[in-house]
Amino acid sequence: MEQNKIVIANWKMKRNLAETTALLKEFKAEFKDFGKEDAVICPNFISLLEAKKVFEETKLKLGAQAVFWEDKGSFTGEISATMLTEVGCEYVIVGHSERRQYLLTNYEMIHKKTRAVLRVKGLTPIICIGEQAEDRKSDRRDFILIQQIQQSLAGIEVVKGENIIIAYEPVWAVGAGTTLEPEEAEYAHKIIKLALNDMFGMKTVNESFRIIYGGSINSENVEAFIKEDNLDGFLVGGASLDAKEFKKIVDKVL
Ligand code: PGA
Repeated sequence: MEQNKIVIANWKMKRNLAETTALLKEFKAEFKDFGKEDAVICPNFISLLEAKKVFEETKLKLGAQAVFWEDKGSFTGEISATMLTEVGCEYVIVGHSERRQYLLTNYEMIHKKTRAVLRVKGLTPIICIGEQAEDRKSDRRDFILIQQIQQSLAGIEVVKGENIIIAYEPVWAVGAGTTLEPEEAEYAHKIIKLALNDMFGMKTVNESFRIIYGGSINSENVEAFIKEDNLDGFLVGGASLDAKEFKKIVDKVL
C-alpha cells in the first residue's frame, strides 16, 4: 500500500527557546482541529521537550533536525536516536544540506546515521539529498542523486513496517526564494525512485519509502507541485515559521 503524503516543518536555528515556545502555541491553536497524521514539526533540540508538552493534545508530530550514529558514549555534543524518542520524536532529518556544508557531514556519516535511526523502533529518518547548482549546470545531477541514494542506503535491509523518507532538496533552491519547475522536481523524483527500485524492489519502495521535495516551498507555489505524481510531500523551511502559512500548505497537500 502506498503511504500518505507528508509535510515537514524545519525550523532550523531560527528561533530561540522563548520564541519557539510562543510559536508552538500558535501551531497548537492553528492545528487544534487537524485530524491527520502527517504534519511534522522539527524545532531545535532545546525546544523538543516543550514541543512534546504543547503538542500533546494535537495530531502534530515531532521531529529533530539531526542525530548521531552511536547510541551512547563519549561523543560530546551529540544526541542519539534513542534519546530523540525519549522526547517524543518520531522523525529525524539526516544530513541536511546545511550540515553537509557547515559541519562537513558526508554520505558515509549519513549512512551510519540512517542505520542508527532504523535500529530504533518508531523513528523515521528523513534523508536529505540534492545537487549543487554546478552539478545541475554540468548535467551531473542524475548521477549525483543516484550516488547519494546508494551511499546513504547500500547494504541496509528495509523490513516491512519500516519507513524512510528521502527529501530531495536541490541545494541551490534551499532558502533561495526560487524553486525549480515542478516538472524538473518530478523528473528528479523519478530518477530517485528508479535508484531505490533497483536497490530494494518496487514493492518495498512503495510500502516503505516516501520521496518529498524541499526548497523554497510556500502556500502559493506548492499547488503546482502537488499535481505531479511522484512527489509524496514537502520539507518546508522559511514558510514553516508562520503557523497560518504552514497550515495553508498542509491543507493543500494532505
Ligand atoms: P526553505 O528550506 O523552505 O527555506 O528553502 C527548506 C529546507 O532547508 O529544508
